[in-house]
Amino acid sequence: MNSILEFLQQRNSAARLAAPAPDDTELAEILRAALRAPDHAWLRPWRFIRLRGEAREAFGEVLEQSLLQREPGADQAARAKARRAPLRAPLLLVVVASLKTHPKVPAVEQRLSAGCAAHGVLMAAEAQGYAGIWRTGAPAFDPVVHRALGLAADEEIVAFLYLGTREGDAKPLPDLAVADFLSDWPAP
Ligand SMILES: Cc1cc2nc3c(=O)[nH]c(=O)nc-3n(C[C@H](O)[C@H](O)[C@H](O)COP(=O)(O)O)c2cc1C
Repeated sequence: MNSILEFLQQRNSAARLAAPAPDDTELAEILRAALRAPDHAWLRPWRFIRLRGEAREAFGEVLEQSLLQREPGADQAARAKARRAPLRAPLLLVVVASLKTHPKVPAVEQRLSAGCAAHGVLMAAEAQGYAGIWRTGAPAFDPVVHRALGLAADEEIVAFLYLGTREGDAKPLPDLAVADFLSDWPAP
């Protein structure tokens, strides 16, 4: 089989990620791939925020504050979990949808474009031999987090991409039948 096709068919997230992560040169190559996401009217409705090293610890504090805002009674274990969340990978890339006003391109299309860019990051990272996982959760939608990351009013978080080197074996790929997801129109 064509090796690119096989590669596309085998993308697999990794929840457990260790160093090394893509360095800045590799990350630039990854982003060049992400920037090829389909993009109606070429609005480029995305941007990426890189967090490495100690920035992840500072961001963990933001996540703890975000948790406390939502759940003022959160216990120490929950707070520590939130604080440590960004340490689950050596590199975090926040994918931001930067929504523009355009007569023919509604916000949903721009969000989809930014989502395609996020997928492009994961694919390109895997192509370089790294691994990653797309996460969101309540913090992605929390104004506390948006403010801390410097998002503008017309920006949204599409993904927290955790990137690094897969720890342990890859999880098995799900056995999905194409026929379950495909139909003909009109129905035969
Ligand atoms: C928009 C979006 C948000 C997600 N948020 C989370 C998340 O917060 N936590 C999580 O464990 N997985 C999350 N996932 C799912 C994982 O990225 C991944 O797809 C899932 O673990 C299945 O693994 P696979 O993609 O390798 O099949 C999210 C996926 C998408 C597309």
